[in-house]
Amino acid sequence: MRGRFLHALVLSAVGMLTAACGGGNGASAGAAGGPIVVKFTHVAADFTPKGQAARKFAELLQARSGGRIEVRVYPSGQLFGDKDEVEALQANNVQFIAPSIGKLISFDPRFQIGDMPFLFADNAAENRFWRSATGRELLRSLEPKGILGLSTWPNGMRQLMNSRRPVRTPADARGLKIRIPSGGVLVDTLQAFGAGASVIPFTDTYTALQQGVVDGTMATFDNIENEKYAEVLRYLSVTNMNSLSYGVLTNTTFWDGLAPDLRQVVTDAMTEATALAEKLSRELDERSMAALKARIAVTELTPAERQQFVDASRPVWATYEPIVGDDLFAAAQAANQPGPVD
Ligand code: LMR
Repeated sequence: MRGRFLHALVLSAVGMLTAACGGGNGASAGAAGGPIVVKFTHVAADFTPKGQAARKFAELLQARSGGRIEVRVYPSGQLFGDKDEVEALQANNVQFIAPSIGKLISFDPRFQIGDMPFLFADNAAENRFWRSATGRELLRSLEPKGILGLSTWPNGMRQLMNSRRPVRTPADARGLKIRIPSGGVLVDTLQAFGAGASVIPFTDTYTALQQGVVDGTMATFDNIENEKYAEVLRYLSVTNMNSLSYGVLTNTTFWDGLAPDLRQVVTDAMTEATALAEKLSRELDERSMAALKARIAVTELTPAERQQFVDASRPVWATYEPIVGDDLFAAAQAANQPGPVD
């Protein structure tokens, strides 16, 4: 299934002529015989599923291309942060990025499906969605912008963390100001709980929390652990509010400039890196949750308490249904059942 998903994307890219196609290949092709040096930048820590999958992808690409491609991986926003990594990809100043899906909403508001509250039951459901015809079509909508979606990688469910008090119900969240990665649906979701929201780049979040610019953040166990939020926030509520996935994206000009055999090497390496990201997202999520439980107050909600969050946020679905489309909601809900969506 996954292989076919990638292959379909690859085929659509090969046949595609975008406005960006006329330019040169921004990857620095070494002088005669030297490798094509490309960059993979992302904002998460090196040890996260994204960090490790990016490194695996780089290793595989280098080995399987016989040294013809060299990928340099820059974690923790070392090269580009949330605000500029997508523009850098479009300009072909970097050849691979993996932003959380919600950060793509300026291209197409339908990407808000990934941030919809309590829609995907878990990462596996969101994976099935992105591998469905509907999910693949949505990723392909980036191609006229010079961006090719190669895959999606999961990284756990988002939880709610803050410095003020334990949160069990929406009433407890009232008045808290929460850092969010992207606007739109996440703003409306927090407002539905009576909380405020502020979009802050991932790499600025620890400082914003430490300085009290915001009271808390939405984040996965794995990011909470790697970003050391427990140093500055005391209360963690296991809301499983939404699923975090990354779109693994490349530049179409770079892609079109690759020899067909190298495109196949990239596709195969991406398939393996995706499998690793899926495995690690499960393993590290559990490991990080256990580590956090040993250190700070982790509030597990009862089903009735969680239901209060679900009920309070349900009007957000109605607001976004005309923007995101019934078809996407239907495909997302179908993806909550095991088995292929279409
Ligand atoms: C966030 O900004 O919260 C996430 O997208 C960060 C990441 O890339 O894991």
